[in-house]
Amino acid sequence: MYEGKTKIVEDLGDEVLLHFKDDITAGDGAKHDVLENKGSICAEVTARLMKMLSEKGVYNMFLEFVPPKKIRARKLKMLPLEVIVRFKKAGSFVRRYGGTEGEDLPQPLVEFTYKSDALHDPLMCVEHLEVLGITSREVAKKVMDEAVKTATILKEFFQGHGYELWDIKFEYGLDKDGNVCLGDEISPDTMRLRKSGEIFDKDVYRRDLGDPMERYKVVLELCRSISL
Ligand code: TYD
Repeated sequence: MYEGKTKIVEDLGDEVLLHFKDDITAGDGAKHDVLENKGSICAEVTARLMKMLSEKGVYNMFLEFVPPKKIRARKLKMLPLEVIVRFKKAGSFVRRYGGTEGEDLPQPLVEFTYKSDALHDPLMCVEHLEVLGITSREVAKKVMDEAVKTATILKEFFQGHGYELWDIKFEYGLDKDGNVCLGDEISPDTMRLRKSGEIFDKDVYRRDLGDPMERYKVVLELCRSISL
């Protein structure tokens, strides 16, 4: 058993059971709340999106949705990284490099950040991953290719429903044979999703713009077009 900020990972031997909690956090844990149904919404969105990705040939952790808020998944050795793909400028990108929220990037951008609360998740380049022994250059390259391919599939899915995917965060692990495998979560907590200037992601919570769950439920409904 391992408990994180938003999930509990239960070890089932060859597999794991992910329990999605109702906790929501922002700003390095500075902001924290418990929101009813958040765990079940994020679990079901993750399950349905990962199912779609599997059907489109993206290797990922998903095995089975266990309603209301658990996912049976492949056991992975997780890389201590957040892998962000950006289609538009927003959030920490704008804080670091300037520009305006929602401005297009000329091509999808992949960023790595090191998962460490103590170090505040510093940005890393491939050379850091190699020098610190986190991954080889080959694995880093594979992760970057998978992340862009996966984010592009999700962008097209949401575009089909009239939504813009601005950016998204993935986490990867290695399966028992050493293959790069998408893990963790794909939900409004881990992406920026917009429709005509309206916000359908965790920025509603970060910026105190109302009840985040009302928006998350809309995202769940459109993901219900994917069968389980
Ligand atoms: P980013 O703009 O780097 O950070 P912030 O959310 O602090 O402005 O985030 C880019 C995308 O990645 C955004 O959709 C949120 C997601 N993300 C996470 O889900 N977890 C994280 O720890 C980080 C850094 C980003």
